[in-house]
Amino acid sequence: MTNEVKPSQSELSRRDVLFMGAITASTLLTSNTISKAASQPSSPDTSAGTDPYVAKDFSVLLSKKLEGLSQSQLNQHIKLYQGYVKKANEIHHKLKEVDLASANATYSPLRELLAEQSYALNGAIYHEYYFGNLGGKGGEATGDIRAALDECFGSFSKFNDYLKAAGKSMRGWVIVGYNTRIGRIDTFGLDLHNVFSPANVVPVLVLDVYEHAYMIDYGIDRVKYLDAFMQNIDWEAANKRLSLAVKSPCCLVDPVV
Ligand SMILES: [Fe+2]
Repeated sequence: MTNEVKPSQSELSRRDVLFMGAITASTLLTSNTISKAASQPSSPDTSAGTDPYVAKDFSVLLSKKLEGLSQSQLNQHIKLYQGYVKKANEIHHKLKEVDLASANATYSPLRELLAEQSYALNGAIYHEYYFGNLGGKGGEATGDIRAALDECFGSFSKFNDYLKAAGKSMRGWVIVGYNTRIGRIDTFGLDLHNVFSPANVVPVLVLDVYEHAYMIDYGIDRVKYLDAFMQNIDWEAANKRLSLAVKSPCCLVDPVV
């Protein structure tokens, strides 16, 4: 049994979600309506010593006692996330002082900082999406995301199988997102925070498949972890992200909506 919202009752129609026209590059580049994004500064960073990134508070997940994901597992995972935020800030500050004269594509301090900047920042932001779509009742999707998944995969069962297979195939992340270029739901896999990360795709549902996400609870049994993940998805959060992405596809959305 599904809880699909009828198009007339839904904030977005299936057609809006699935067949929104392609977004031109010029639109993306000229938009000045950037929303508050994950781990972005809450105010302009005008001081050299001001940390631009602030870790979000996910302690509510610990109090919810998620099915199949222990407090110990989540607590360690949240601490890891906080470390990425800390390193993103550190790199941000070091880039202001780095030696430019030694720039070199084999090795230079600037190269290393630039390479690790996306690792740290993506590590922070993708974790915010991940924690932000945990804490729900799981089960079958509802609302517009359900309609979009049914349209793309044929049924929720097929999406479920695809997501788990993708989760078994990748080494870092699986991103179910709104592909702004084609105006529909799409799925991507990452091996590291900054390896294979798609451009202009707004994450709607993010799955962490790094071993650190489940090793405490399941050892190397990733399949059991994937089952636990499915049981704790917050489909309401996914629907909010999708709604924001479709309404303003040129903008990124806050992972914690
Ligand atoms: Fe993680």
